[in-house]
Amino acid sequence: MTKPILPGEVAAAVVNPAAYGAWDPLHEQLAWARANVPLGIAENHDHDPFWLVTRHADIMAISRDPQRFANGIRPTVLTNRDGEALARAATPNNDGHLIRSLVQMDAPDHMKYRLLTQSWFMPKNLKIVEERIRQIARETVDHMLETGGTCDFARDVAAHYPLRVIMDILGVPPEDEPRMLMLTQQLFGPTDPELNRSREAITSAEQAIAMLNYVIADFENYFGTLTADRRANPREDIATVIANAMVGGEQIPDRELAGYYMIIATAGHDTTSASTAGAIMELAKNPALFERFRSATSDKAGLIEEAIRWTTPVQHFMRSARQDVEIGGQTIREGDWLMLNYVSGNRDEDVFGDPFAFDPDREKNQQIAFGFGAHVCLGQHLARMEMRILMEELLPRLKSLDLAGAPARVESVFVGGLKRLPIRFEAA
Ligand code: HEM
Repeated sequence: MTKPILPGEVAAAVVNPAAYGAWDPLHEQLAWARANVPLGIAENHDHDPFWLVTRHADIMAISRDPQRFANGIRPTVLTNRDGEALARAATPNNDGHLIRSLVQMDAPDHMKYRLLTQSWFMPKNLKIVEERIRQIARETVDHMLETGGTCDFARDVAAHYPLRVIMDILGVPPEDEPRMLMLTQQLFGPTDPELNRSREAITSAEQAIAMLNYVIADFENYFGTLTADRRANPREDIATVIANAMVGGEQIPDRELAGYYMIIATAGHDTTSASTAGAIMELAKNPALFERFRSATSDKAGLIEEAIRWTTPVQHFMRSARQDVEIGGQTIREGDWLMLNYVSGNRDEDVFGDPFAFDPDREKNQQIAFGFGAHVCLGQHLARMEMRILMEELLPRLKSLDLAGAPARVESVFVGGLKRLPIRFEAA
């Protein structure tokens, strides 16, 4: 059977950082794909062809089958052909993973490493840190109210709060947070000239790899010092758990150690910042919704789940087929590369009634923004809890909330969200 090839505009859009920045036109392309070629090959000049997976059901089916769809074989985040070749040349065993974290691992390593910290991120344990998070939320709100009625919520508020929370849990002191924020933004959004290290557009794979290596070396340097400290002086933080963890009776090798810190330090904030800012944007646009959620007694769960669906901060992950597999009526061949496009899955008309409406009252919100299966987001309960606490602390303290200018999105194919959200507000 011949493989269905996607139209050039669709294939070009899903690999283009600017398309994720522009957002609405991208959704038109994805909606077309879901309706016409839900599982089709995207061919682009600079990338190896890959299957674009646009339907919720297919994303779920692939995610729940890590035996046949691996993370470790090819890049887990879209990388162009030159970038992959350079990364392979620059990595041990030519595996192409500049970082080896949970995300790049498969069985049996993946579970061994995941279990080292999994219990930390379960709701039961998070109760222990809830008061601490609330304190950070209160300080964040105080700081916002001090701005006197206008601020850029994305830059001044949302970018800092989840960062402070995850750094607190990890054990990184507040004075090092600006460095962590900058490094994460460079790691996730190296294509956005407003965020990358050189402040210039990245035009070649060499530039991108050089920039990433620089950022990774900085992270490794920082966490090397932290590890030495926590081995000598253990504390009640995740850094201590990671620094002293044993796998197969041995301390974690340096590469995996650095990868572990990096995934915890980075996955936990730009993502939650994006969904938090997205929630505030929708409330700023809709006074009735704002009035409802401003009430101290309102249940925020639906608002939070819908904001996560709506923003879909992690826009894709890649998988590679280990063997031939039938899925969604197509035959995927061993070695094929697949893009799980969560942005598309979260607007799937078969799963979400009126998917392009922001609706906190969805009866059963099956958003797939945290992925699914063995690699499902380790921090999902923390992300929800952080958002709930911030909304509980912030909204009752506001009398009004409006947009004060045009929001702007990050230009990135991987982690997206708002980089600017100018708002006007009155304190209650
Ligand atoms: C709204 C916020 C967040 C979103 C949308 C998000 C999304 C995701 C997604 C899509 C994955 C991959 C799932 C898969 O492959 O099936 C993932 C993995 C992961 N996330 Fe999150 N995440 C968020 C917040 C957090 C937070 C707060 C942490 C805190 C530590 C975190 C830590 C991780 C880790 C460690 C992984 C790798 C899990 C594995 O491979 O086993 N994330 N996340």
